[in-house]
Amino acid sequence: MFLVTGATGGLGRRIVQQLCDQEIPVRAFVRLSSRYAQLEHRGAQIFLGDLREQRDIEKACQGVQYIISTHSNPDNPLKLDYRANIDLIDVAKAANVKHFVFISVLGTDRGYEDSPIFKAKREVEKYLQSSGLNYTILRPSALASSLLPLAESFKQTGIYLLIGDRKNRTSVVSTDDVARIAIDSGFIEAANHQIFPVGGPEILIREDIYQIFSRVFNREPIVINPPLFLFDGLRGGLGLINSDLYQKLGTLRVLLGNEFFCTTEEIQNLELIFKMKMENLESFIRRYLAS
Ligand SMILES: NC(=O)c1ccc[n+]([C@@H]2O[C@H](COP(=O)([O-])OP(=O)(O)OC[C@H]3O[C@@H](n4cnc5c(N)ncnc54)[C@H](OP(=O)(O)O)[C@@H]3O)[C@@H](O)[C@H]2O)c1
Repeated sequence: MFLVTGATGGLGRRIVQQLCDQEIPVRAFVRLSSRYAQLEHRGAQIFLGDLREQRDIEKACQGVQYIISTHSNPDNPLKLDYRANIDLIDVAKAANVKHFVFISVLGTDRGYEDSPIFKAKREVEKYLQSSGLNYTILRPSALASSLLPLAESFKQTGIYLLIGDRKNRTSVVSTDDVARIAIDSGFIEAANHQIFPVGGPEILIREDIYQIFSRVFNREPIVINPPLFLFDGLRGGLGLINSDLYQKLGTLRVLLGNEFFCTTEEIQNLELIFKMKMENLESFIRRYLAS
């Protein structure tokens, strides 16, 4: 039995669906407020709970051999991205779970002090590495599923908002590929006790993204490109009246101001170990939105 946390998220949902398609038993950890009907319909066992509650984590792990942790919550990184994962690892250890996959983020080892999520991910990685559990840590760059709302709005309006440097590099990765890698990590020997950067097959610059949208939807892009210092000024101003908001915008600041891409060698290594060909962003967007 697999347990998937964050099962209603962009990645978690795809992991649960792929497991159901393969007829592998899966328990989806969801909140009562989540949209989980489709997962139940596909055959997943639904566990209703809240990852802030250790008792819920303990109950959810009963009878489980594999755990894939995908949840995240930018509104409460200390409780969700950090504490809930530490609790999950402790319970997994006590329950003799066979394999634990943790979805981290590319760049978590670069020491970004401004982002509580990046810091939480790094601390969880270290805790998992020293837990004695059999684990795989995946560090994705941007997930293509996160771009779907942007692509939908581009399809309607042609407008694309790109804050900061147009030339920053990124390796947007197909969320379906990450889901497959997360599942297969439990069954592939070479994935044990490993950390993998996970990106798409192409190193894109950020302006490639609206050009891809433009090709897919056959629309001229209207690009709005404010410089990063405008974002910083706005964030600073907001911070004077709301320090929580200032902190929350820290992760976005890190994402906007830095490059997140995998090398060709890292992607070739991934394709070799997981015996797959990574999908590019254009194909992902076409599959979901072109019609
Ligand atoms: N998105 C990216 O580009 C990106 C890039 C690199 C790494 N990652 C990492 O990849 C993972 C998956 O990302 P994603 O975009 O698929 O995430 P997502 O769509 O934001 O999903 C987050 C999930 O966490 C759940 N969750 C939040 N608070 C919870 C709570 N208190 N109890 C139980 N569940 C709770 C949400 O449930 P509800 O449906 O109820 O809200 C949702 O299912 C995350 O760990 C993220 O940090 C993402």
